[in-house]
Amino acid sequence: MAVVILIFWVIFALLSVITAITLGLRQWLQRRKQKLHGSSENQLYVGLFHPYCNAGGGGERVLWCAVRTLQNKYDNIKIIIYTGDIESSPKAILDKARNVFNFEINDKVSFVFLKHRRWVEAKKYPHFTLLGQSLGSMILGLEALCKFPPDIFIDTMGYAFTYPLFKFLGGAKIGCYVHYPIVSTDMLRRVQFRQAVHNNKAYVARNPFLTWTKLTYYRVLSKLYRWVGCCSETIMVNSSWTENHILELWEVPFKTHRVYPPCEVSHLKQLERLDDTDEIVILSVGQFRPEKDHPLQLQALYELRTLLTRDEALWNKIRLVIAGSCRHEEDYERLRNMQDLSKHLSLENSIEFKVNVPYDELLKLYQRAKIGIHTMWNEHFGIGIVECMAAGLIMVAHRSGGPLLDIVETSEGSQNGFLATDAVEYAACILNIIHNPVEINTTIRNAAKSSVERFSEKEFEVQFLRAISPLFPKVP
Ligand SMILES: *[C@@H]1O[C@H](CO)[C@@H](O)[C@H](O)[C@H]1NC(C)=O
Ligand SMILES: *[C@@H]1O[C@H](CO)[C@@H](O)[C@H](O)[C@H]1NC(C)=O
Repeated sequence: MAVVILIFWVIFALLSVITAITLGLRQWLQRRKQKLHGSSENQLYVGLFHPYCNAGGGGERVLWCAVRTLQNKYDNIKIIIYTGDIESSPKAILDKARNVFNFEINDKVSFVFLKHRRWVEAKKYPHFTLLGQSLGSMILGLEALCKFPPDIFIDTMGYAFTYPLFKFLGGAKIGCYVHYPIVSTDMLRRVQFRQAVHNNKAYVARNPFLTWTKLTYYRVLSKLYRWVGCCSETIMVNSSWTENHILELWEVPFKTHRVYPPCEVSHLKQLERLDDTDEIVILSVGQFRPEKDHPLQLQALYELRTLLTRDEALWNKIRLVIAGSCRHEEDYERLRNMQDLSKHLSLENSIEFKVNVPYDELLKLYQRAKIGIHTMWNEHFGIGIVECMAAGLIMVAHRSGGPLLDIVETSEGSQNGFLATDAVEYAACILNIIHNPVEINTTIRNAAKSSVERFSEKEFEVQFLRAISPLFPKVP
């Protein structure tokens, strides 16, 4: 009995201490907010949480486009970026953003530099990586909050565990842009059915107890993820794929908005077509990574030749150009295997491999090519397809993932490309395009060119402003 009472008291004391600290911190933050924000009443401080803001990748394009959009739309706001790039100066960061993305961003951006970014790095946590990173992001978030409590907090890197801090301690309104859910139902399924993959090691898959533990761990983590995610008042997702996962995990459809990241396609749309030869070039653009499934492209060409056995003249005009980049020895190995396969299928005279082509040359390829081919299964999006379509190629893409959900439309009347799953189907689509009358070619091409507007910067601005408007006070 005495032990139970003792335990009860210990728990009670602990809870009291935690509550006291929380309330104290809250009050301190409120006073700090007043001090830092000064007296001007209708000035709003918008904090963007992007610890790797100097990386120059796709996520950063979203960040800087969002900054520019906010600057153009609202006069009464001050933008703060929380970043861990302590070795760069604000000027260097802004200059890089301007150079890499070609955005006009004015200098009225302040930076809050965070010293604890190492807490969110995966290599710090060899086990329980997701939980470690999530708790780590809370430390980083707390540092950000203490250094500068904002009125509106927008996370653009998916650190959902920071939202309750900013909401309950900092009293901010929360918005987020999700590129990728940290846990996914696919992951759960793989552990459940005991498949060994890179994030489910073979010894876990073999052992029922470890599988149970891991499953419980993922389930608890997704519950927590849901709770913290729902602290956000508006949720933006970058594609249908992410949208489906976030809807399944967080279940708040009325707050979830699909806002495609801005793709720069206007220069591609202006490219002139070079139709001077009667060669028919089929272009494939992508890294020599296994998931891109280049062998399927070779098989498709093989099937195409079978379909054209009676029309050798036409077959001789067809050329498959595979342009891709190789990052390391493994990629070169794959490239060599592909070259061997093309000889094995005796297609070597119809295929050209172009490795690590510079951008100018890629533009030339776009101008010469008539048809584009994409074979990756379940690609989350497929920016390469969007670029080909903007450049005026007629695309044959894989019937799965982003191409199917977001990009390619095949129904009559609005067709902007073709979808296929196996080599025979790819060959049939290509032959179909080749036999098409000019008008149909032109219609599909024009539909493709105008459909990629959905992924333009302008469209991003409109959708982004619409999604974040609940965070701003209503203008009377
Ligand atoms: C969304 O983000 C994920 C992860 O970075 C990426 O794989 C996917 O291509 C992105 N989607 C779009 C539409 O850019
Ligand atoms: C239609 O376009 C394809 C590919 O661009 C081309 O090979 C074919 O000759 C075109 N058809 C006609 C009738 O021009």
